[in-house]
Amino acid sequence: MAKDMTPQEAEEFVRPLLSEKRYAHTLRVARTAEELAYRHGIDPARARLAGLLHDAARDMGGAELLRLAGEWKLPVDGWEKENPKLLHGPVAAEMARRRLGLTDEEVLDAIRVHTTGAAGMGPLALALYVADKIEPGRDYPSVGRLRKLAEGDLAAAAAESLRTAISYNEKRGRRTHPASVEALRWLEREAGGVEEP
Ligand SMILES: [Fe+2]
Ligand SMILES: [Fe+2]
Repeated sequence: MAKDMTPQEAEEFVRPLLSEKRYAHTLRVARTAEELAYRHGIDPARARLAGLLHDAARDMGGAELLRLAGEWKLPVDGWEKENPKLLHGPVAAEMARRRLGLTDEEVLDAIRVHTTGAAGMGPLALALYVADKIEPGRDYPSVGRLRKLAEGDLAAAAAESLRTAISYNEKRGRRTHPASVEALRWLEREAGGVEEP
């Protein structure tokens, strides 16, 4: 568990790092992650903490994200070099570890993979991933369906969100981050009975 970290401390930590808009999003994600956790038998306090910290590095510039990733020896591949914003999850997790003394590996993992998803993601990571997509400020055509799915099955909601993102990219001739493709394959295998393309 986190070393004596309260939600207030996490809020105070992120507030000066974020724009008003991002901070409001952060609070909605934290609340949504907490609610999803209650519903699905996950520790709500840890889900809330992951939500509060997930976008801590989101308002940093690309150069700063790359600099910190380099300093902290985080994995940076071609995708991240091309789009450094992808690093905001891994950098936020490392900030939480280094600057807040957060030691809860599941919370750190959830923060780390919240942008792309990842094969093998745990329940907390699923709750955060889905909360980020369905928080009440989100408004896109499939969000209602995702909210409904998330009530019953977090993995199904995450898979549906990934499928939507991948087909959106395909329609626009864009590639999808390999971690997202792997996350979807893994979720479909876990669900069983779903044929791989
Ligand atoms: Fe994010
Ligand atoms: Fe977010």
